Amino acid sequence: MDTLQSYDELPYDSLPLPETQPDFLAALARLHGFDAPDPTCARILELGCASGGNLIPLAWRWPASQCVGIELSRVQAEAGAEFIRALGLSNVRIVHGDLAALSADLGEFDYIIAHGVFSWVPPAVQEALLELCRRHLAPRGIAYISFNVAAGWRSLEPLRAALLARTGADQPAPARYEAALRVLDELEAQWTDPALLKEIAYLRTAAPSYLFHEYLAEFNAPLEFGRFDAALAAHALRYVGEAGPRHAVVEFDDGGEADARRRAERWRDAEAALDAALATRFRRALIARADAPADPHPARADALRELAFYADLRCDEEIDLEQATEQAFLNPAGNTFRVAPPVMKAALMVLSARYPAALTYADLQAAAGSVMVDCGVVAEVDDGAFRTALFQLVMAHAVMPTPSAGPVVIDPGSHPRANALARLQARSPGWVVSGRRHVAIDLDAAGRALLALLDGNRALPELSAAMQAWLAAAGVDLPEAAVNELTARQLWLFARQGLLEET
Ligand SMILES: C[S@@+](CC[C@H](N)C(=O)[O-])C[C@H]1O[C@@H](n2cnc3c(N)ncnc32)[C@H](O)[C@@H]1O
Repeated sequence: MDTLQSYDELPYDSLPLPETQPDFLAALARLHGFDAPDPTCARILELGCASGGNLIPLAWRWPASQCVGIELSRVQAEAGAEFIRALGLSNVRIVHGDLAALSADLGEFDYIIAHGVFSWVPPAVQEALLELCRRHLAPRGIAYISFNVAAGWRSLEPLRAALLARTGADQPAPARYEAALRVLDELEAQWTDPALLKEIAYLRTAAPSYLFHEYLAEFNAPLEFGRFDAALAAHALRYVGEAGPRHAVVEFDDGGEADARRRAERWRDAEAALDAALATRFRRALIARADAPADPHPARADALRELAFYADLRCDEEIDLEQATEQAFLNPAGNTFRVAPPVMKAALMVLSARYPAALTYADLQAAAGSVMVDCGVVAEVDDGAFRTALFQLVMAHAVMPTPSAGPVVIDPGSHPRANALARLQARSPGWVVSGRRHVAIDLDAAGRALLALLDGNRALPELSAAMQAWLAAAGVDLPEAAVNELTARQLWLFARQGLLEET
């Protein structure tokens, strides 16, 4: 069975990917000294876009953008096109085709996204992907290409080799996946390497498509950062920075090197050394044309002043604003960020309370200062310390940067209305609901049923009654008060995820 057939039989979950959002890419590029085009009216191309779970919400969010997706799997491309038709969107299309065989008149793009494609296609298609970027990237455009990194994959190669050797490549993808699970059982009983056992445990919980496409796909060719960088250069492209979370933020020392080319070399060497030290498995590279009118440098904290920020974090203990004791903040994905400076804890309280709204640097600093004063902690906010602490959190993706502030959270009101994209996603099996900040929202069937009803014509009591009926039909009988509370909590969640519109 070839790779394409496997994508048809076991489609890759097509989700919104926060790290590919052009506003996030533009903000990151800014930290690297690079001015990318305005994302709100950008031309966006996504290569290997599956059914558009990432691209369609971007097109929806920015009606003035023009979005094109390219997808080799007919099943996925058609599912995406059908969804776009149902939504009535005119600024996005998904083209069924091979990215290596596109016509040269595709046009120019401000953002090109290729997530989960580069390492998983044959070398000729990798070449074609970079060539597409060279030909179709606007002068100040940004491409995002993710790829598997050899530094972290080397130790996992025995697992991939065993799974490939012990599952028949000629069987249908779902059957092969089941066979792979049985092989994992056998390997777990035989192997002792902790890293491999940890990966086996993870693979049992991961989406089937993840196991399939990382471990059973015909191609998965991790490469060193240096080789990727050389491939960029061969296509008149250059590295701008990293869009993935950075687990270690080290101030890069350019050694006072005056020559731009030598400075860039030192930076690339430092990136490769970081991969070796951290056993990096995956990179999300930001890329520009080599002739772009900017000289990108490693991310610097100064540019934070020009940006706005949002964060969805919680802290399960009382926040201590007096002491610089480390406290754990968690994001919805379950990642933990340890934060000590009181003013930064105050800033995270502000951002989390206002999520999904974004605050400018100045507003965030002022609001954090006010929280400190309100809590009786009289403190001058030291701008340098604030910026350094915020920079660490932005690099780790605890706090997300965006070029401008907004939006406000909309209260459910008496007749809540969810946006048409969220309602259609809620009604469509296999589609996840995407939040205002381009995150996949984990909703159960009752939550989806409620969301689908929010067309602005139903009052709260009517929605509660509909929920009660829906739950009863599903065999769950709850008293009215409990259903009312459940409905209100669910509506609050929709508001917090930015799914509601003014009625
Ligand atoms: C691992 S999936 C990633 C999907 C999506 N970008 C994401 O990250 O969720 C790779 C996708 O690239 C598509 N693909 C593979 N080779 C392609 C090619 N030559 N042209 C266009 N799409 C391709 C596959 O069909 C599949 O949908």
